[in-house]
Amino acid sequence: MAGWCVGLASFLFEYDTPRIVLIRSRKVGLMNRAVQLLILAYVIGCYHTHFAEVEMESPKFKQWVFVWEKGYQETDSVVSSVTTKAKGVTVTNTSTLGFRVWDVADYVIPAQEENSLFVMTNMIITKNQSQGSCPELPDKTTICNSDANCVAGSSGTHSSGIATGRCVPFNETVKTCEVAAWCPVENDTHVPEPAFLKAAENFTLLVKNNIWYPKFNFSKRNILPNITTTYLKSCIYDAVTDPFCPIFRLGKIVESAGHSFQDMAIEGGIMGIQIKWNCNLDRTSSLCLPRYSFRRLDTRDVDHNVSPGYNFRFAKYYSDPTGAEHRTLIKAYGIRFDIIVFGKAGKFDIIPTMINIGSGLALLGVATVLCDIIVLYCMKKRNYYREKKYKYVEDYEQGLGSEMDQ
Ligand SMILES: *[C@@H]1O[C@H](CO)[C@@H](O)[C@H](O)[C@H]1NC(C)=O
Repeated sequence: MAGWCVGLASFLFEYDTPRIVLIRSRKVGLMNRAVQLLILAYVIGCYHTHFAEVEMESPKFKQWVFVWEKGYQETDSVVSSVTTKAKGVTVTNTSTLGFRVWDVADYVIPAQEENSLFVMTNMIITKNQSQGSCPELPDKTTICNSDANCVAGSSGTHSSGIATGRCVPFNETVKTCEVAAWCPVENDTHVPEPAFLKAAENFTLLVKNNIWYPKFNFSKRNILPNITTTYLKSCIYDAVTDPFCPIFRLGKIVESAGHSFQDMAIEGGIMGIQIKWNCNLDRTSSLCLPRYSFRRLDTRDVDHNVSPGYNFRFAKYYSDPTGAEHRTLIKAYGIRFDIIVFGKAGKFDIIPTMINIGSGLALLGVATVLCDIIVLYCMKKRNYYREKKYKYVEDYEQGLGSEMDQ
């Protein structure tokens, strides 16, 4: 008979059913328990490390209880809205600007943003610009000796305007190509140091954050129920003494992230204010609290300091009594504070409980498979065990009339 025919016959005309073989052996028995223990430790360990990540603050002993809690909870991620308000005033006294007071409307640009707030800390102001012709800033391409060096109508990426084709004196010693532009052109070769609004270090920022867990219809805000109006008027966030005060001193935000505010204020940068809401809603809702942390989001390498910081330009336009249009150009350097809200809430639910118990039990089945392989294929007495494990039984009638088979 062909091989495949035998195979087909055994497939069609044989039936196997498991029977329990009790192996009375200390070695095999202990091995089975050891493997089961390893799997159990793995299952618990996995949940354990998973949860330890989520609830870092809780004491060690609690985490072992949470091992099971984690498995039986449905989770949901946070939905949030943020509003901010900066406060603080300062004065500057310079030869170009004179005595000037700076308040929120001056240094927060734009007045409101989503999840973000820009505070101007440094600037280059070019006052009283109007449309006209004036000499370009001197650099390699703009310095000239005669009109022949300047091409009328040309403009480069870094130009302030369109060349008129004339070569005019920039100052007593240097001549540059003339451009049609907003005149006089901005000179931003030197960034003021220390930062112009260095007092921004002491400005404060109130962050109001409302969160919602839609699956559990649970909402809360970071101004906690026990915070009074008087406390809110006087408190400043501090990780140790006032961890739930939603008012932050700008200097402290930057310092908490390990950077110097005065250094950052010169060229600008981006700071992240992270608010983490990790809530176990099986416990009382007063334990669902915001955790604040800070990090600098614009990476700044010490040895690769090309185009550092954060700046942009804007202008304020006005007309003089004759109707001519003028503007004040401001190149603003500053720190943008991005408020990042994240978190997870968990609450008991029967479905994840069942799934987790089921998957835990299924994993225990691996112990049987592993022990079977060792007992039947690896041990010295494998033939003996195999003989005991598999019992070949002939069909009842055929077994009686076995002559017919031959
Ligand atoms: C910020 O306030 C502190 C304490 O009032 C003061 O010592 C410090 O000089 C202030 N910083 C700036 C830059 O004005």
